[in-house]
Amino acid sequence: MTAARSLSGLRLVPGYLDRPSQEALLGALGTVFAAAPLYTPRMPKSGKPLSVRMTNCGPLGWVTDEAGYRYQPLHPQTGQPWPAMPDILVDAWKALARYPHLPESCLVNYYGPAAKMGLHQDRDERDFEAPVVSLSLGDTCVFRIGGTTRKDATRTLHLASGDAIVLGGKARLAFHGVDRILPGTSTLLAEGGRINLTLRRVTMPGEDRAW
Ligand code: SIN
Ligand code: MN
Repeated sequence: MTAARSLSGLRLVPGYLDRPSQEALLGALGTVFAAAPLYTPRMPKSGKPLSVRMTNCGPLGWVTDEAGYRYQPLHPQTGQPWPAMPDILVDAWKALARYPHLPESCLVNYYGPAAKMGLHQDRDERDFEAPVVSLSLGDTCVFRIGGTTRKDATRTLHLASGDAIVLGGKARLAFHGVDRILPGTSTLLAEGGRINLTLRRVTMPGEDRAW
């Protein structure tokens, strides 16, 4: 059994969103992009641009630049609060997270045909009890997932438009990344590419927000 398969708490839900729901979500994201345009994030310290473009919705957004990884309530370029999370995303969290509190952040990653994301853990949150719920729209990607240390064996799986993945339990801190996009595998996005939506809790329930 591979390291990733043996990680309890990793759940793949193929086809969680059917095509009409994917189209409805894409429509709702149009409103998000209008209020909070996609921008090119930068690596901590080096300031090297990432190949994905990003934005967020919900009370807190995950950002990265020379100053490091963090959550903040304002878009780094417009200075405006992130727009509300579309209901369809909140509903996905309620259906999939098995967690009694609402998500506080939805990171929206846009991958053009050549974009990818290196192997990393999601660990900028204070609450690791809540899972990470991730939805895919558009072109299929080759998603890589391993164990909780960087040296653990990894495996790949394909995430297609409408698929959901939940990283909970031991898999909450699993290393993961996106090796590549498979261009032309979906007709959902007119311009091609892939959108990933990552829903997360950030604070501990009941914690006073310092934001
Ligand atoms: C991420 O880990 O931020 C994105 C994962 C994905 O695009 O599926
Ligand atoms: Mn991640």
